[in-house]
Amino acid sequence: MVQNLQAVSDSQSEQVRESAASGQAYFDRIMAEDSRIEPRDWMPEAYRRTLVRQISQHAHSEIIGMQPEANWITRAPSLKRKAILMAKVQDEAGHGLYLYSAAETLGTPRQKMTEDLIAGNARYSSIFNYPAVSWADMGAIGWLVDGAAICNQVPLCRASYGPYGRAMVRVCKEESFHQRQGFEILLELANGTPEQKQMAQDAVNRWYAPSLMMFGPPDDDSPNSKQSMAWNIKRFSNDELRSRFVGMMVEQVEVLGLTLPDSEIRFNEETKMWEHGPLDWNEFREVLAGRGPCNAQRMERRREAHENGAWVREAAAEYARKTAAWSAEAAGVAS
Ligand code: 3HC
Repeated sequence: MVQNLQAVSDSQSEQVRESAASGQAYFDRIMAEDSRIEPRDWMPEAYRRTLVRQISQHAHSEIIGMQPEANWITRAPSLKRKAILMAKVQDEAGHGLYLYSAAETLGTPRQKMTEDLIAGNARYSSIFNYPAVSWADMGAIGWLVDGAAICNQVPLCRASYGPYGRAMVRVCKEESFHQRQGFEILLELANGTPEQKQMAQDAVNRWYAPSLMMFGPPDDDSPNSKQSMAWNIKRFSNDELRSRFVGMMVEQVEVLGLTLPDSEIRFNEETKMWEHGPLDWNEFREVLAGRGPCNAQRMERRREAHENGAWVREAAAEYARKTAAWSAEAAGVAS
């Protein structure tokens, strides 16, 4: 009996090894062809973990990112601005949902991802730990933060994991609208009174460096980039995307009639890269460690919102239970 069980177990392990070997061969071919992995395909555990890490961090960023702008909905200067801002904040909630759904296809439930965030065990983008102190900040966030998001996320539309790449297509379309609305707020302020123009310049001055840091640490300090690029998740390094973003902003800031707070921006003809002045990576590390200007407030609000939403989750679960019971009953009557 024991021998039989051992034989069954050996044969099962052999099957697992064989399917892993053929799965790895399939995965390698998909990577070489620059094609897509889908949820049911075999994938290395490290690839799965990397995707869950990146996609869940991205989803948390979208959800926490609603806070700085939601604070301004009641103070928007006109009905039109209020409607636009509300639509934008709702879009961010939608982005969070697509991304949580994409991450769930990898086997991690949304509840677990949310619990990790609430417990302070998950990251979200550094940028959302800075305060939005004036209406012009809505412009700077739209133009710079959503601009950086587009620059980072358009290449993610080609990410090797199907559900992530497909979610990013829609996210990027909406981010383009967000960037345009931010640009337009700044343009109107820049062409307004001297005080309004100053307000716009001040907002750009404060959001410029944190936006550049959104792209992540310099390449030499980025432990995940190399492998993520080999797996066709990331298509460009953090520094490449940051440089590309600086090049975009240099042109657009002229149209705004404002300036970027960086006298060291230049195009390097040899490397064909835009260069910028030094960034305070110590500040970045502090923000990531939870000691940024608004980390505590953002997390407190997120926890509060989660607790206040408990009744909605309970009601949804109860509705699902009742619907399943009704369906089962109806099926019983029919048979
Ligand atoms: N904020 C917080 N953490 C950051 C960060 C940032 N700006 N940049 C890097 N990190 C973290 C990484 O998560 C990693 O930590 P971990 O290993 O514990 O997960 C560590 O710093 C080292 O960085 P790496 O460069 O090695 O990490 P990645 O290869 O994952 O690259 C990334 C970082 C470029 C942010 C990449 O994960 C990515 O492209 N993510 C998808 C996009 C995203 O999440 N954007 C967040 C903003 S969402 C947004 O902009 C909403 C819009 O509405 C404005």
